[in-house]
Amino acid sequence: MKYLIGNWKMNGLRSDIGFCHDILANLPDKNLFTFGFAPPITLLSDFTKAFEGSGILVGAQNCHYADGGAHTGEISSRMIRDINADFVLIGHSERRRDNHETSSQIARKARAVCEAGLMPIICVGEFLEKRTTGGAIEFVINQLSRSLPATDMHDIPFMVAYEPIWAIGTGQTAEKHDIEEMHAAIRLFLQNRLGNVGRNIPLLYGGSLTEKSASILSLTNVDGGLVGGASLKAKTFLSITKAFEKNS
Ligand code: PGA
Repeated sequence: MKYLIGNWKMNGLRSDIGFCHDILANLPDKNLFTFGFAPPITLLSDFTKAFEGSGILVGAQNCHYADGGAHTGEISSRMIRDINADFVLIGHSERRRDNHETSSQIARKARAVCEAGLMPIICVGEFLEKRTTGGAIEFVINQLSRSLPATDMHDIPFMVAYEPIWAIGTGQTAEKHDIEEMHAAIRLFLQNRLGNVGRNIPLLYGGSLTEKSASILSLTNVDGGLVGGASLKAKTFLSITKAFEKNS
């Protein structure tokens, strides 16, 4: 079973909610994927209602690390749980970039998400410079290590998304051998930290994933994808699964 999670970023109005019906009406016959979507917060409740009982996961793109209180403009993981969502994307590179989120803040958020009974999807990825001059693996493992909460994560479901920053929204995907090498390093790190549990943490690849690059989903230690641009239309999103099915 693979995961395919759509990240709508800052896109989507209420008039786009027909998307959920298009997805439900066109689900693939083969049961090879668990799907998930992270719409903007304004559509989260519409999505949880539309996908209720379908097995499709719904999540937020961010949350605050506090439960509540004097944090104007913020949303807590308890509030996200309250509208029956399943997961929260944590530490997306656009949030690290635009909001100067640090890995230690991300670890606090991940902890809050776990405590609310939701699943964090912790995002990591290197800058182009790290990829071209070397040190990408060291950078990403260090980032992941600091983004994981210090609490015992043995019994807590979470996922890790590896998204090379230079591949996000650029139409350029990472080389397959680089993805395999990075995912193997992340797997080893998780096994060292969590023992056997680390073997089963789903590792997603993200960065310009489309039907053209769907074969990335077949690589060793790639358990699914985090999809931005191609997730905005049901057709382009589901075409990734069709391309994958053809070759599997
Ligand atoms: P992209 O975005 O598929 O548009 O590159 C991926 C992401 O940022 O999650």
